[in-house]
Amino acid sequence: MTVQDASTVGDLAGRIRPDFILGVAAAAFQIEGALTADGRGPSSWDAFAEKPGAIVDGHSPAVACDHYNRTDEDISLMQDLGVDSYRFSLSWPRIQPGGKGPINQQGLDFYDRLIDKLLKAGVSPMVTLFHWDTPLPLEHDGGWLNRATAERFAEYSAAAAHRFGDRVAQWVTLNEPVSVALQGYALGVHAPGRRLLFDALPAAHHQLLGHGLAVQALRAAGVAGTIGVANVHSPVSPASKRLGDGLMAKAFDLIFNRVYADPILLGRYPKPPLQVKPWFRALGKVREEDLKTIHQPLDFYGLNYYYPVKVASGRGGGGDGSAPVINPEMMAKLPFHLAAFPEYETTGFGWPVAPEHLGILLRELKDRYGDALPPLFITESGASFPEPEHTRGPVHDADRIRYLASHLGQALRATAPGGIADDVELLGYYVWTLLDNFEWAAGYSQRFGLVHVDFDTLERTPKDSYYWYQSLSKARRS
Ligand code: FCB
Repeated sequence: MTVQDASTVGDLAGRIRPDFILGVAAAAFQIEGALTADGRGPSSWDAFAEKPGAIVDGHSPAVACDHYNRTDEDISLMQDLGVDSYRFSLSWPRIQPGGKGPINQQGLDFYDRLIDKLLKAGVSPMVTLFHWDTPLPLEHDGGWLNRATAERFAEYSAAAAHRFGDRVAQWVTLNEPVSVALQGYALGVHAPGRRLLFDALPAAHHQLLGHGLAVQALRAAGVAGTIGVANVHSPVSPASKRLGDGLMAKAFDLIFNRVYADPILLGRYPKPPLQVKPWFRALGKVREEDLKTIHQPLDFYGLNYYYPVKVASGRGGGGDGSAPVINPEMMAKLPFHLAAFPEYETTGFGWPVAPEHLGILLRELKDRYGDALPPLFITESGASFPEPEHTRGPVHDADRIRYLASHLGQALRATAPGGIADDVELLGYYVWTLLDNFEWAAGYSQRFGLVHVDFDTLERTPKDSYYWYQSLSKARRS
């Protein structure tokens, strides 16, 4: 660690309240591997990953980090790291291979052991029920386009609640429903690879309904932990003062942020500007009682933050310079595009590094939702940078340390007394992620981990950022 990193540790540690939770986050499909072990059924992602061209360089998720067989080693890494909490997801097809009907006891047993080992190691479990791996038989029936999937999700959630409800500290129903609807059903770059553009909106609604029904199921099961959801948010600004840019920025804000947060927190869908109303027509038809179901009281709100977005009117395909690239071919069908932030450095994914926008976002969420905004966890924050596939020694990821220090620092400063979002209650911060892993369509090409993984040998090598987070974790207590 350099002298400068050490000073950020002292400064940050001094700002962290004793009850603030520091954690790491991960998702089943990205780390577990063992896709056919112990009765697990296939998921939408198993099938998608087999399609030629779907995953960068044809990388396979079959082994990933082999976490399924290396949980002890990975828990030791977390214990040595000194984190309070581990956010991980349950694989629905491991627990209920058909997506409905019989429960696979071996699947439940795996997570049962994981939870007990975590507790023994002093790491508290935060469980995500759905992080994108829909059981394949349900996907064949339409997946989240099919309303029945919401009901199946609640049944599976109840099974998990009955088995783990006594030991899980926090429950997250869905991870980033917008990513599933947008990347999976609208643009086709994620599973299930559908390209429906605005006709994908029912997949948003049914996930939200699944969220509401799952919250009800968890409460009915009497789980001991608290309950929330994890939405990704990007603060949106127009590329210029031109009216067209303003209108498209507003529309994008609905598509990306408000279609998910408004019904959950306020019990209604946002009203689109007149000019783009037809895009959202699917939401105009939803049943009033669905909105009541979606609008469940929550104990916390999970915020995943990666980057801000600048929107310009006019077809422009994918990213423009330092703007995130989604699917140029499909994006070209839309009358707007994402514009660059030339003032910011970018990550390995080409995402702008803009920590101050996290403060802006926290302010915006509180302005929008007021008292309806529950206390908040940052459930994901992190970055990929180009790093070698193999390493024999230390991995000097100063860029990741800077990224994490500036984002955590921004969140702590913004929510401290006198900060721009000091009326937001921030409960904790989870780094995405512990291990380099299967980064969805990007395969193993984007490394987000605090720990380097050699995907040939599966050897884990903690990076400098791991030691940095470890020293922060220690320093806040001293
Ligand atoms: C988020 C996902 C997570 C990971 C990070 C980099 O959108 O929730 O699984 O892929 O991005």
